[in-house]
Amino acid sequence: MSHTVLSAAGTCLVLDHTGPGLPVVRHFGAALGPDAGPALESLTPLVPPPPLLAGQGDGWFGRPGLAGGRPGDHWPVRWTVDGEPAAEAEPGRGGRVTVTAADERAGLRLVSELVMDPHGVLTARHTVTNTHAGPYRLDGLTCAVPLPARAAELLDLTGRWALEKVPQRRAFGHGTWARESRRGRTGHDATGLLVAGTTGFGFRHGEVWGVHAAWSGGHTHHAERVAEGHALLAAGELLEPGEITLGEGESYRTPWVYFAWSGTGLDDLGGRLHDHLRAARPLPARPVTLNTWEAAYFDHDLGHLTRLADQAAAAGIERFVLDDGWFRGRRHDRAGLGDWYVDETVWPGGLHRLAGHVRGLGMEFGLWFEPEMVNPDSDLARAHPDWILGRDGRPPGLQRNQHTLDLARPEVHAYLLERLDTLVGEYALDYIKWDHNRDIAEPVHDGVPGVHRQTLAAYRLIDELRRRHPALEIESCSSGGARADYGILARTDRVWTSDSNDAIDRQAIQRWTGLLVPPERMGCHVGAPADHITGRALPLAFRAATALFGHMGVEWDLTAATQEERDELAVWIALHKRLRPLLHTGRVVRADHPDPSALVHGVTASGHAVYAYVQLTSRVAAAGDPVRLPGLDPAARYEVTVPGPLPEGAALPRWAAAPLRLPGVVLAEAGLPAPALRPASVLLIEVTRV
Ligand code: GLA
Repeated sequence: MSHTVLSAAGTCLVLDHTGPGLPVVRHFGAALGPDAGPALESLTPLVPPPPLLAGQGDGWFGRPGLAGGRPGDHWPVRWTVDGEPAAEAEPGRGGRVTVTAADERAGLRLVSELVMDPHGVLTARHTVTNTHAGPYRLDGLTCAVPLPARAAELLDLTGRWALEKVPQRRAFGHGTWARESRRGRTGHDATGLLVAGTTGFGFRHGEVWGVHAAWSGGHTHHAERVAEGHALLAAGELLEPGEITLGEGESYRTPWVYFAWSGTGLDDLGGRLHDHLRAARPLPARPVTLNTWEAAYFDHDLGHLTRLADQAAAAGIERFVLDDGWFRGRRHDRAGLGDWYVDETVWPGGLHRLAGHVRGLGMEFGLWFEPEMVNPDSDLARAHPDWILGRDGRPPGLQRNQHTLDLARPEVHAYLLERLDTLVGEYALDYIKWDHNRDIAEPVHDGVPGVHRQTLAAYRLIDELRRRHPALEIESCSSGGARADYGILARTDRVWTSDSNDAIDRQAIQRWTGLLVPPERMGCHVGAPADHITGRALPLAFRAATALFGHMGVEWDLTAATQEERDELAVWIALHKRLRPLLHTGRVVRADHPDPSALVHGVTASGHAVYAYVQLTSRVAAAGDPVRLPGLDPAARYEVTVPGPLPEGAALPRWAAAPLRLPGVVLAEAGLPAPALRPASVLLIEVTRV
């Protein structure tokens, strides 16, 4: 056999291993039927496409898949495979292939693994081993799949604190478009997914390929087209010079790199990735959460917080999370990080009274930590200045008044594990909000760049804590959404999507974060009437209908809200709970709605769907474009209803007044006549198969 085919859910990958060199991905895209392998073998191209790990020896003059060398003794690498790849594949159900290769002269061995899951998601990784006596300096190792010429447009995401995941698009010509991070964390500006597709692709149309590196440290995602016409979509860890030097027998393994394809646009691409994550780490029902940050900041007062807990429970909230400010010396953000002991001056007798009160109300109790960080003004930094990640005697500049701890040092790891383990045990914590509030600058561990080891050490710390406390849930926060990737989501339960709770900005942030992160893993909170970051005041209905579509929560001082507001909030929370089984397991859909003043998004499952028609700004066209509802079974009949409080000041068409029954195809193609909504309002539409 000189080819392997992995296929699932209408996707297939054909790996051609006819040559002595590394196998070539001849196709990653639509299913090609049972004869895909032999058919492509008979169609050998004149100019062969780049192999699994491409370099100049393969005629690939773009970015090499493997970069590195031995000073003064350089051998360009030419791989020879060790016989046939080991493959286990079941047509239509995915499978895995392992390729082993070596270059005796260069002194390297390679193991490449490709796995396709039942949703057609491909994960890949390489492991390289130094087989010679001298050291090998590894500068980069990425995983790639080829793209066809018709993938002529690129989409990636950027962003900043409180405005994550802003899309940018461009034509994909010759050259390289790279999105890289040297921030020591995933980054607010991280693309998450880098997508190449046919011109004009959208949520519901176009052929698209996406790549994502499951890694929370430095990373690269790039698309490159060379003059021969070949193009690659690639990702991996970004290594600093000298970060990885392999001694004889030592190996480096890349993080898993995710690839997905869809013939029908971004919704299907993202949906496959969601399905992958859901199968890999199923979660129990997501409790509606109250997080105290914007309600109390550092002003911890038992009376206020117990009243807040009372109001939270009355509104239907199920989990209460005490944010920053509970530990020694933490009266502001200039001190205390690192001293993970309850501050007895603020909390005499510890957190037991608050935790007991919260539990007495039937809610879970969670606590904020930022384990990897330290303030210079802390007992920890005073006792162990050498624990700071950086070159001894010349620590990096501060960000948010803090340094990073060198987690790869066993004594630092042991201290943090002991503190976390003790507090989780003492308070039987259900939940940790695990924060990481700075980019890591000038990291040095044992004389070499330190992010690789730091990232692995953070993963180890989380993994060990979870091993000791299997029921503990963890939220990945990093000044909002700066650590949202599949590396961290393999071991945590949700991300804090953004520090901005401004529901207008949140509509966009959640829409684009949601390409990679399923809704039940995206923290989405109802903020105060006027947002604490943007200052924008928005109606409660709009804030709530925006938070409803994720892992819903509240970030608002409910003791300062009116009874009317609290009653309305309770209605929205009850609605979220009713819809939660659908919202947290269904397919996320977004219409390619032509009017830029409005959005249409929803979640569909078999027989049930809920949509939001979101009016962001004032509409120009008086009539409005029909609201087309994607993702329904065209042949089925559905009852259309409007759940939840109606938006204020809206003019609603007749269909919104009384339940109506219509075929799926009519809802999807003709659509519902548009309502006329004020800016910053949402009309929910629920659709149930009859
Ligand atoms: C970060 C987080 C916030 C909050 C603060 C506390 O900014 O993103 O949600 O927890 O830290 O200091």
